[in-house]
Amino acid sequence: MIRRPPRSTPLYSSAASDVYKRQVVLDVIHKIQAEQANDLAIRWNCKAGKCGSCSVEINGKPKLSCMTRMNEYRKDETIIITPMKTFPVIKDLVTDVSWNYYQNKRIKPVKLALESKTEKGYVMYQKDIDRVQEFRKCIEWYLCQDVCHVLRDHNRKDVFVGPRFMIRAAGLDMHPLDVEDRIPDIRDEFGSGYCNITRCCTDVCPENIVITDNAIIPLKERVADRYYDPIIWLSNKVSGLFQNGSKTEH
Ligand code: F3S
Ligand code: FES
Repeated sequence: MIRRPPRSTPLYSSAASDVYKRQVVLDVIHKIQAEQANDLAIRWNCKAGKCGSCSVEINGKPKLSCMTRMNEYRKDETIIITPMKTFPVIKDLVTDVSWNYYQNKRIKPVKLALESKTEKGYVMYQKDIDRVQEFRKCIEWYLCQDVCHVLRDHNRKDVFVGPRFMIRAAGLDMHPLDVEDRIPDIRDEFGSGYCNITRCCTDVCPENIVITDNAIIPLKERVADRYYDPIIWLSNKVSGLFQNGSKTEH
């Protein structure tokens, strides 16, 4: 069943027997589109879990419709497909996710330490980038943004950038050659304090990125060290570490 706001009549796939159990939900949406509602709007591109276009909610849970198989549900179960709740609906199952693009632009890009440049250019060792490589798997499905209660239930897009952009900030801040100072932004502009570590974002990530424990908590620790650990705060003040761009590591 597809809930199609603002129209009151939901759309159904004709019968459960029509649905091959290896089909994915996107196949069923296309079947409904072909047979019942040619003007039904659904965004998709790759049908391989790689473009991030087909994010919807299936029985209230954010999911990729192209990667969710029908056999995950009981034969007699009604599957309700709705657009992502956190973002404004453009039409049917298509939402306007442009707010996320603006958050991305607010994050300071990588700033490489000039002194780390060698004759061969910038050199990094695999062991130094292992930690941030996980974050580069994100291709912005925005399922984590959709599920986070700060954005979804409290609509605090004005104060919190959401888990997707916390991992982007973490990926840059943990970059072995980066010397940009993002900690004030992470606390004041991006609202790290609004995350109360519910881990819902980690639960829905299609790439199994451990968003909360590997990215958000370390960023919160860096903020706490900077602003709330009196010894580190004092020693940083004295040594002027903030000015020359050095960063506290965790
Ligand atoms: Fe939201 Fe994830 Fe934190 S769901 S509250 S960003 S742990
Ligand atoms: Fe590309 Fe689903 S269509 S992720």
